[in-house]
Amino acid sequence: MPYSAGVSRQGIERALLAAGKDLGTLGPSDLALVEDFHTMGRLATYELAELAGLTPHSSVLDAGSGIGGTARFLADRYGCHVTAVDLTSDYCDTSEWLNGLVGLSDRITVRQGDVTALPFPDGSFDVTFSQHVQMNVPDKDLLYREARRTLNSAGLLAIWDIVAGSGDPAFPLPWAEHRAQSHVVSSETLRLSIDSAGFVIERWDDLTDPAATTMRAILASPPNPVGLHAFVPDFADKAQNLTNALADGTLRVVRILARAA
Ligand SMILES: C[S@@+](CC[C@H](N)C(=O)[O-])C[C@H]1O[C@@H](n2cnc3c(N)ncnc32)[C@H](O)[C@@H]1O
Repeated sequence: MPYSAGVSRQGIERALLAAGKDLGTLGPSDLALVEDFHTMGRLATYELAELAGLTPHSSVLDAGSGIGGTARFLADRYGCHVTAVDLTSDYCDTSEWLNGLVGLSDRITVRQGDVTALPFPDGSFDVTFSQHVQMNVPDKDLLYREARRTLNSAGLLAIWDIVAGSGDPAFPLPWAEHRAQSHVVSSETLRLSIDSAGFVIERWDDLTDPAATTMRAILASPPNPVGLHAFVPDFADKAQNLTNALADGTLRVVRILARAA
């Protein structure tokens, strides 16, 4: 896996202190620039969350939660309980630490685990979020079967993800140091996996063009110690390669809402 081993907490702590933050009085919004490990950052999380129609009573799974940015945003903004699952134990530890710093530990449960073998009973969740995770998962059928199994009837799967365009992207990318770590498939293949896992696709938005524009603007913004570069090695190169690939259509980015059938 292309993700950090044992350095994310240290990097983030250093970045927050360099930005003049007091770790004793940190609020959820202080983490916004560092915790959304996907194209368009917090903007994408916000738009997906609004479409999902969460309430304080929603039971939410974030499948492939990274350092927990989505879980914290959902728990803080919508008042719901979120279960955050990620394979990378370093990210799970950092997630727990950040949840505690911003006072959200009681609304978020962090579990280290694999999204293709979720450690939860059938029908555990009303809504499952998954942002920029399936590119690391070769067996997409299994991924979405597990998402379906753990959602209750009429539950919602909310996805923000990368699919193949035309041609080959340059590496490294944010989810893969090299080609062998990347399991990007076409929109058609992804749609088939989601469909056949027992979902009805309600929305499929290709947002490649606005994402490329937004990513260019983000890359052109003044340097800030707080950002994904605080814990993702070579992040500037990875983000630039992704932005180039979105701009030339080598990769595409899609927002998907799928309802458990
Ligand atoms: C690009 S990061 C996205 C993190 C988070 N969803 C976000 O948007 O901030 C991809 C994440 O997927 C996790 N991941 C990859 N394969 C996984 C698997 N099979 N099970 C659980 N997590 C996985 C990685 O550990 C990493 O945290």
